Amino acid sequence: MEEELIIDVTGLSKSFAGKPAVNGISLQVKKGDIFGFLGPNGAGKTTSIRMLCGLLTPDAAEGTCLGFNVLTQSYEIKKQVGYMTQAFSLYKDLSIYENLDFVARLYEIDNRRERVLQSIEELGLVDRQKQLAGELSGGWKQRLALSAALIHDPKLLLLDEPTAGVDPKARREFWAHIQKLSQKGITTLVSTHYMDEAERCSKLAYIFNGQIVAKGSADEIVVGSGLFTWVVTGSGDLADLAERLQSEVGIEQVARFGGRLHVSSKDKEALLRGVKKYQVAPWSWHEIVPDLEDVFISLCSSDKDFEEQP
Ligand SMILES: Nc1ncnc2c1ncn2[C@@H]1O[C@H](COP(=O)(O)OP(=O)(O)OP(=O)(O)O)[C@@H](O)[C@H]1O
Ligand SMILES: [Mg+2]
Repeated sequence: MEEELIIDVTGLSKSFAGKPAVNGISLQVKKGDIFGFLGPNGAGKTTSIRMLCGLLTPDAAEGTCLGFNVLTQSYEIKKQVGYMTQAFSLYKDLSIYENLDFVARLYEIDNRRERVLQSIEELGLVDRQKQLAGELSGGWKQRLALSAALIHDPKLLLLDEPTAGVDPKARREFWAHIQKLSQKGITTLVSTHYMDEAERCSKLAYIFNGQIVAKGSADEIVVGSGLFTWVVTGSGDLADLAERLQSEVGIEQVARFGGRLHVSSKDKEALLRGVKKYQVAPWSWHEIVPDLEDVFISLCSSDKDFEEQP
C-alpha cells in the first residue's frame, strides 16, 4: 500500500513586488513525518509555510495539502491545520485559559470548556491557567502556542521556528511532545535554525533563495553533499590558522566550532594538498563525516548552482 502523502505539492511559488520569495518548491510529506524546514534568514521558509496552511495564496502551485487543492481549497485546509507562527501571536493581556477558549471559539469546537481544560492539562499548564500570556517565560509561551495550535485536533502541524529563544530543557520537552504526536499519526512540518532539531526530523529540506537545494534524511543530505571534512584542534592561534586555511587553494570552507575548526571541500585530493603543510604541531587533525551544519554552510555559499536534488 502506498503511504499517504499529507503534503504533495510541486511548483509552489510566490513573489513580493516582483521579487521571488519562493521559487518553484516541490514537497512531499508523509503521514506522521516530522519534516524539517531549514535555510538562512529570508530563504522563504515562512512564506512556504503560510502558503501550505492556506493563509497566503500562491502565485503558482499544483497539488494538495491534506488532500485539498492548495490553490482553490484554502478554507478546507485551514480548518485541519494547526499553525504556530514565528512570532508569538496570542493575546498577551488574556490568560492562558482565555486565549485557548478564544481559539476554541474560532474553530467552533463542541464541548469547548472540556476541550480547553483537557488541553491545559495535556501541556502541563493547569497551575498557570489564570496567568496572563504576556507574563509567561519564553518556554511557557511556546507551550501555550502549541496548545492553541492543537486545540481543534489538526492532522497537520505547521510550526514556524517554534523553539527560537527557548532554553534547551524546554526545547527537549517540546520535541518529546512533537514526537508523541507523530506516533499518533499527526504530521509536522517545522522550520528551525537549530542543528540538533534538524537531526530529530525524519526528513529535511534545505531552502536557499526560495528553492530547495537539498532534500532527504539528515544522513542522505550529508552523503549527497559530496563534502569531505577534516577537524583540527590544538593549542595555537585558531583564528589565525582559520584565516590561513581559508586562503589555501583547494579548501572550500573553514568553519569554527568553539575550540576546533572544520575544514571542508568537495575535492578530497585538493583538500589534502591544502591542509598538508598545517599538519604539524601544535595542530592535530582527523577526518570526520561532515556535520549537517558543514553541509548547510556549503549549500548556501555564493558560488553554488541551485539545482534541486532529486
Ligand atoms: N509580506 C511580505 N512582503 C514583502 N516581502 C516579503 C513578505 N514576506 C516575506 N517577504 C520576503 O520574502 C523573502 C522570504 O521571506 P521569509 O519570511 O519567507 O523567509 P524565512 O526563510 O522565513 O526567513 P527567517 O529565517 O528570517 O524567518 C524575504 O526576502 C522577505 O523579505
Ligand atoms: Mg521565517
